[in-house]
Amino acid sequence: MKIFPDDARLLIARLAPASLSRIILLFPDPWPKKRHHKRRFVSSQMVMSFAKLLVDAGEFRFATDHAALARWTLWHMQAEPRMHWLAEGPNDWREQPKDWLETRYEQKTRAMGKRPIFLRYERLPRNGAKDIPLKVS
Ligand SMILES: C[S@@+](CC[C@H](N)C(=O)[O-])C[C@H]1O[C@@H](n2cnc3c(N)ncnc32)[C@H](O)[C@@H]1O
Repeated sequence: MKIFPDDARLLIARLAPASLSRIILLFPDPWPKKRHHKRRFVSSQMVMSFAKLLVDAGEFRFATDHAALARWTLWHMQAEPRMHWLAEGPNDWREQPKDWLETRYEQKTRAMGKRPIFLRYERLPRNGAKDIPLKVS
């Protein structure tokens, strides 16, 4: 395992396309004030980077205990046609998925009685130069 102990955005900007099988973003800072929303890790540009960096069928995993940040992330991910939300019902975002990394922050938030939200997305297969999604539900 290698650790990049700095701003992850610096690394993301330098990685080769289709070089990651998973991107895991757990409890990023919510930056609740409107004037700070631009500091949120998930942005339109970041979501495009996720689609670029993930291999076909690669996965983006996300968790938060902040409902507004969950909505923000859903909205940004929905705008990226190369990423497919892997939820079939409410339990898929309410319950911790199998094979999940439970962080210290998640343990703390549970101890406070909060229920985190879990999102999983699949990178749709590349389809030639236009990279049009093959799977649309
Ligand atoms: C609420 S904590 C969650 C920590 C951990 N992921 C967990 O679940 O226990 C948010 C963390 O994101 C880190 N962070 C914020 N922006 C970052 C960035 N651009 N690159 C790397 N880490 C970042 C902060 O330093 C902080 O440790």
